Parts: sequence; C-alpha cells; structure tokens
Amino acid sequence: MKTLSKTIQATFAALLCTLTLTAQASTATPTATPAATQADQAVIERGRYLAVASDCIACHTTPRGKPMAGGTSIASPVGAIVATNITPSKQFGIGNYTETQFADALRKGVRADGAHLYPAMPYTAYSVMTDADIHALYLYFMKAVQPVDQATAETSLPFPMNIRLSMKGWNALFLNDKPLAPVADRNEQWLRGRYLAEGPAHCSTCHTPRGFLMQEKLDLQLSGAQVGPWYAPNITPHKTSGIGSWSQAELVTYLKTGRVEGKAQAAGSMAEAITHSFSHLTDDDLQAIAVYILDRPAIADDKSEVQRTRFDQGKAGNALAAFRGLPAGATTDEEVRGARIFSASCASCHGYNGQGTKDGYYPSLYKNSATAGVNPSNLIATILYGVERETKDGGHVFMPPFGNQPNALNSLSNDDVAALSNYVLKYYGNPSVKVTHDDVEVIRQGGPQSNLLLLARIGMVVAGVLVLALLVWLRTRKKRPVRINENDWK
Ligand code: HEC
Ligand code: HEC
Ligand code: HEC
Repeated sequence: MKTLSKTIQATFAALLCTLTLTAQASTATPTATPAATQADQAVIERGRYLAVASDCIACHTTPRGKPMAGGTSIASPVGAIVATNITPSKQFGIGNYTETQFADALRKGVRADGAHLYPAMPYTAYSVMTDADIHALYLYFMKAVQPVDQATAETSLPFPMNIRLSMKGWNALFLNDKPLAPVADRNEQWLRGRYLAEGPAHCSTCHTPRGFLMQEKLDLQLSGAQVGPWYAPNITPHKTSGIGSWSQAELVTYLKTGRVEGKAQAAGSMAEAITHSFSHLTDDDLQAIAVYILDRPAIADDKSEVQRTRFDQGKAGNALAAFRGLPAGATTDEEVRGARIFSASCASCHGYNGQGTKDGYYPSLYKNSATAGVNPSNLIATILYGVERETKDGGHVFMPPFGNQPNALNSLSNDDVAALSNYVLKYYGNPSVKVTHDDVEVIRQGGPQSNLLLLARIGMVVAGVLVLALLVWLRTRKKRPVRINENDWK
C-alpha cells in the first residue's frame, strides 16, 4: 500500500513536472572531447566483446545500414522510438561524448545534452555494468567503430510521451542504478552468469512481464512476456511452466545455435539476439548464463500449471488423411480450410504429418514450444513473418513469411492464418488453445497495444485540472490583499 501510494505520488509528480516544464532542447551541446587515452588494444577487444554481448548492433543498425549508424525504429507500446547514430561521428553520432556522458547514457539513460532516453534503450539492464566494462566499451566505440556522418530520423511520440522529462519520474521509480550486490553462497561462475544475464545480455528486458507503466515486474522475473508480435516464454526453471526440464547443456546449445531438437527453436527477436550476440559468446560465458538462469526462482504460469511442459505435447497427425489434405473426421469448414492450407504451404517442409525432417533442419511441429505453449503468438508470428537466422558457421535458417507481404502469392488472410493455426494446434500442438481472426490481426499490427498512452493522457488531464485549480487559488489569494489595500487607500 505504501509503495502504491509512493508510486502514485511519484507518477503524479512526474506528470506534473511534464506539464509545467517544456521539453528540453534536443540540440546536442558538445562539452568535451574524448580523453586521448593510450588505446590499449586488449581493452578495445574487450569492449568489442561487450558490445556483442550487449547486442548494441541489434537496435543501432538497420538491416542494410552501416554498423551503429542507427535509424532502426524500435516499436514501443506508445509509438516507434528511433535508435540513434552511436558511431563516433562528431556531428551526427556520439563523437563528442565524454566517458562520463557515455556512462550516464548506458547506466542512467541520460544523453550528453542532459535529455532523458526512453527505456527502449535498455539502460535499466546496462545499469549494472562495471566502470571497467563501461571504459572498455567507450574505448571500443571511440577507437574502433567507423564514424558515419549520417543523421537519423527524430523520434516523435504522441503527447505527453514526447516530453522526455517524464522519464525522470519513471527512472526515480523503476531504475535501480546500484551495482549488483555480492552473494555469499554462490561461486564465480554463478556471479559471472548473473552479471551477463542481468546486464549486457539483458534477458529480463524481453522475458519479464511489464506493469502498467511498462516497468519490469521484478517478482515475476523471466516468467514470460509479450515483445511486440512475439512471446518471450517463461524461462524460469519451473518444471512445467518454464524450462526446468532443460539441461544446462541444452540451454547452452539453444543460446549458441538457436535450436534444441524436439524442444524449441528461435525466431523473432530471439533469433536476432542469437545471430548477433549470444552465438558469439565464449562457451564459459554461455555456461555461466545457463547456470544462473537455471538457478532463478521457479515461477508457475497460472494457465499451464496443471499441464505437461510445452516441450512434451502433441503428436504426429494422421498421416494418410493429412496427406490428402483433409484430416480424418474433419468437422468444420474452418478445419478443412486449415488442412488445405497446411497441405499446400507447410507440409513441403514440415512433413505431411508435421514430423519435420530427420536432421531437424525443418523442425517437427509437435513437441515444439511454438505450437504447444499456452500463448499462440509465436505460432501466429511465425506464419506471418517467417523465421530468419544466421548460424555462426555461416548457415542460414529460413522459413518464408506467409503474411506480411500484401501482394505475395503465398499471402494468407487473417482467417486463413486462424484456420491454419487452429489446425496445427489441434493436430500437433496444444488443442486447448484457440486462435481467432482478431488474434491474428493483433499480431499483424505488431502485438498488443498498451493502454499506457491512454493512462498518461488521463493522468495529464487530472494533473492539468489540478494545476489550473492551483493557479486559480494562487490568483485569488494574491488578489485579496491587493483589494484590501485598494480599499484602505480609498
Ligand atoms: C533494445 C534496443 C537497444 C539496444 C540493445 C541498445 N540501444 Fe542504445 N539506444 C536505443 C534507442 C531506441 C535509443 C534512443 C532512445 C531515445 O531517443 O530516447 C538509444 C540511444 C543510445 C544512446 C544515446 C545517443 C544519443 O545521443 O542520442 C547511446 C549512447 C546508446 N544508445 C548506446 C548504446 C550502447 C553502447 C549499446 C550497447 C551496449 C546500446 N545502446 C544498446 C536502443 C538500444
Ligand atoms: C530481444 C528480446 C529477447 C532477449 C534479449 C532474450 N530473449 Fe529469449 N526469447 C525471446 C523470444 C521472442 C523468444 C521466443 C522465440 C521463439 O520461440 O521463436 C525467446 C525464447 C527463448 C528461449 C526458448 C524458450 C521456449 O520455450 O521456446 C530460451 C531458453 C530463451 N529465450 C532464453 C533467453 C536467455 C537466457 C536470454 C538472455 C541471455 C534471452 N533469452 C534473451 C526474446 C528475447
Ligand atoms: C520452406 C520451408 C518451410 C515452409 C514452407 C514452412 N516452414 Fe515452418 N519452419 C521452417 C524452418 C527452416 C523453421 C526454423 C527452424 C529453426 O529455427 O531451426 C521453421 C519453423 C517453424 C515453427 C517454429 C517457430 C518458432 O518460433 O519456434 C513453426 C511453428 C512453423 N515453422 C510452422 C509452419 C507453418 C504453420 C507453415 C505453413 C504456413 C510453415 N511452417 C511453412 C521451414 C518452413
């Protein structure tokens, strides 16, 4: 209750703040040149490794753009936030950042000009990074990243989210910028795993559910969250809801290759994180992350508590019937439609009865986290957006998208995707999950929208009314003595 009222107070203060103060000027004001330190190659290399572990490139580089030159729009529930140019370009990038300013951007979410960053930049995770690591990253960015003189689009969020100062209130509530506390009864490996998972590798940014102000709910850490159209599942070591049935070696394999046969494979943002970041980590670091993750508190998922794990559900469909394009005993038009689409668009790779290929390159659709979980987002998103992943040895994992190309021959409508998903769920996956036309539309639009904007606007209205009342009160209070004086003089 106390924290709630504190939350409300601080939120209110933040909103009030945003009302009375205008947005800070966003022109960069260079203050100092980077210290000309002896560029120690070993430190730079460490910085390079940390940049990979932190996946800076995932957000700060467009698919065909120059490394770190920015320009990617990060979808957030209140609108798109553009990742900026963080090459050492003095005019367009961070070439004028001092090491302190760089540290503040990474750990406190404050830009060199003092303006606040939106938490689309994962400073809430990077906040645990040590001074030594920040130093290495800084040297790497200043000395080894090619400057790119190229501006990125401005972020323009709807009112009141366009007022960056509101993030000050948010940070006061939700940013823990203290270093990780020592833990007596854990070994070096666990501590290293914690540092990587909580900091640079920021697992929690995607896998932890968020509260109504978009803050991570710390008591539900890693228990699963929607990230745009994809669902980052529960990865706590809970036996049935989480990945408690995975061995440490399997988790390492997944982070390294994006696939654990007969369990799961990575698409969406996890595929990106593996392609650019996790697959390049040392085995020691991956083992450390796995040790730490599998030692987190196990959190049950309400809906799946009584079920078997999502890695052990479903079975091969009725081969002969599916081969003809019609499941045995198909009852509804929707099911027939789903079967036909499966036969035409999916069976060529995933097999006529969903069994996949022996080498696992085309995965089986049963005993698969994407079809057997309680949340169908990843099944729908896979159908709409496909899968694309690079492996470290130069391999390319690819499933074509079936939904996001309006004029493509293989484009499926929302009703098609719903029928197909329900067919896959019923015959191979979790038959208790159902997908509707509207569910598909939500994923097509980039995932469920948060009501944060609405809340903020309501907050602003309430704050506005109160400020008005305050002004009126101040005016009348000021006026009264004036009138008395006037009367006195008469
Ligand atoms: C999940 C996406 C994401 C990742 C990962 C990420 N950033 Fe960012 N970063 C952003 C976004 C978005 C912004 C712009 C935010 C804004 O305008 O409020 C930003 C802004 C910044 C800025 C402020 C630059 C300026 O003056 O505008 C710096 C510095 C920065 N990032 C450095 C880094 C570094 C270094 C890493 C890796 C250690 C990193 N970022 C990883 C999304 C990301
Ligand atoms: C940028 C967002 C993002 C980050 C960061 C991220 N994940 Fe994921 N993760 C996802 C998404 C989305 C999926 C679902 C992928 C799919 O099934 O296609 C996923 C899937 C997984 C799975 C498979 C679970 C299952 O049931 O299929 C594991 C294990 C996992 N992540 C572990 C981690 C660990 C450990 C970290 C940190 C080292 C991490 N992830 C960081 C988004 C993320
Ligand atoms: C051209 C071959 C191909 C076709 C056609 C194809 N897929 Fe895939 N599918 C793949 C590959 C490759 C993967 C990724 C395997 C990996 O990540 O290791 C995949 C992965 C998946 C996954 C798991 C995704 C995840 O997030 O874990 C699902 C579910 C899936 N496909 C369903 C379908 C459905 C339904 C269709 C029919 C619309 C279909 N696929 C058509 C090749 C294909």
